[in-house]
Amino acid sequence: MIRPILIHPDPRLKKLCDPVQEITSDLRTLAADMLATMYDAPGIGLAAPQVGVTRRLIVMDCMKAPDAPRPLILFNPEVVWTSDTLHTYEEGCLSIPEQYADVQRPDKATVRWMDPEGATQEETFDGLWATCVQHEIDHLNGKLFIDYLGLMKRQLITRKMEKLKRERAREAR
Ligand code: NI
Repeated sequence: MIRPILIHPDPRLKKLCDPVQEITSDLRTLAADMLATMYDAPGIGLAAPQVGVTRRLIVMDCMKAPDAPRPLILFNPEVVWTSDTLHTYEEGCLSIPEQYADVQRPDKATVRWMDPEGATQEETFDGLWATCVQHEIDHLNGKLFIDYLGLMKRQLITRKMEKLKRERAREAR
């Protein structure tokens, strides 16, 4: 099931999300819905707060290849190591449609998480995967990519999103 994606600004996008203690069938359904929602958007990553659930869960697939997908579901993802070398990527976000800006992050990141079967996984991501996983984990801490930008640029984007939300609310009536 495709779920509606919250658009910034929204208080649920600013929350520190709660860890998952036990992977229930509801949470597995949520993860499957999040992947469907992400592919439909289309996007390469999605965090639970973006569909209004403030739990520590992200999904991603940076293959950008419909014939060779690599859907990943990460519960309680944690960055355990980052490289000193940085990489700049023009980021976007499904909660901030059509806005892009350069963000600098470590170009490699080792992440530990729990998979849908409850097993611990660990992987060192690089390239787009590294950017994406750090961006999505930020969401679980109430942080958006625009928080890395200067105040003026952030306010400009926030005003554009407020306008977009007003227009969408009008269309929905
Ligand atoms: Ni995002």
